[in-house]
Amino acid sequence: MLEVDVLTIFPELFAAFLETAFVGQARRAGRARIAAHDLRGWATDRHRSVDDSPYGGGPGMVMTPEPLVPAIEALAGPKGVGRRARVVHLSPQGRRLDQAGLARLAGEPALVLVCSRYEGVDQRVIDLAVDEEVSIGDYVLSGGELPAMVLIEGMVRLLPGVLGNPESIETESFRGGALLEGPHYTRPPIYRGLEVPEVLRSGDHAAIEAWRRQQAQDRTRVRRPDLLEGAGSSVSDRRPDRSSPPSGADARAADPDDSGE
Ligand SMILES: C[S@@+](CC[C@H](N)C(=O)[O-])C[C@H]1O[C@@H](n2cnc3c(N)ncnc32)[C@H](O)[C@@H]1O
Repeated sequence: MLEVDVLTIFPELFAAFLETAFVGQARRAGRARIAAHDLRGWATDRHRSVDDSPYGGGPGMVMTPEPLVPAIEALAGPKGVGRRARVVHLSPQGRRLDQAGLARLAGEPALVLVCSRYEGVDQRVIDLAVDEEVSIGDYVLSGGELPAMVLIEGMVRLLPGVLGNPESIETESFRGGALLEGPHYTRPPIYRGLEVPEVLRSGDHAAIEAWRRQQAQDRTRVRRPDLLEGAGSSVSDRRPDRSSPPSGADARAADPDDSGE
C-alpha cells in the first residue's frame, strides 16, 4: 500500500485530484492512503503565518522553520533512523525525477511530501527535517503542489493492480530507461486521409511486434538519442517480450471503447 502525506498551504488543490481516475480508484480500493494536510494547522501565531522576509534582504518570502519542522516531525517522526516516513521536499534544486526515481519512491513504506511556496524554505528545514529533494524538471513553478501530484500519479500507476492492464507499464516509455514507446492508433482506420499502418491491421503479431520495436528505436533515436547512449546493440532486447497474442495496445485497438490508458 502506498502511504503519502502531503504538507501544503493549499490542501484544497488536492481535493479533485485525490478523487479522480487511477489515484481515486487506488484510494477507494485501499491500495493507497494519500492525505493533504494544511501546514497552517501547525502554525501557532494569530495570523497562522508560515513565511517571513529573508535575512540579508532580497525579493520574496521564505518559509519559516516553524511551523514546517514540527509539522514534518508530526507526520514522519524526527529525522534519522527509525523515522516513520521518508520526507521529500519538492524543489527545482532537487534530484530530477525519472521513472527509476518514481519506482524507488513508490517502494518506500511511507512518504511525506513537502510542498513549499515563495522563494522556498529556510535551509534549516532541509537540514533538520528533509531526507531528500526532488525536482520534476529544470523549470520553476510557484509551488510544490503540482510536482507532488506528478510524483503521486507516477507512483500510483506503478502499484500492482491499479492499471487495468499491467502490460501498459511494461511497454511504455522509459521502462528500464531504454526506449520511448512508438506511435499508437485506434479507429477509424482512415482519418482525414491518414491511414493506420497496414501492419497493425494485419493480425500478424510477430510482424506487429517487429514494427513496434523498430518504431520505438527510430523515435528514440530522433527524439531522445541520450536514452540510447550506452544501450549498445541490446537496445531492442530491453523491450519486453510482446510476441504473445494481442493484449495491451493490441487489445485496446481491438476495443477502442476501453477507457484504460
Ligand atoms: C518559486 S519556487 C522557489 C524557487 C527557488 N527560489 C529557486 O530558485 O530554486 C517555489 C516552490 O515551488 C516548488 N517548485 C518549483 N519548481 C519546481 C520543480 N521544478 N520541481 C519541484 N518543485 C518545484 C518548490 O517547492 C519551490 O520551493
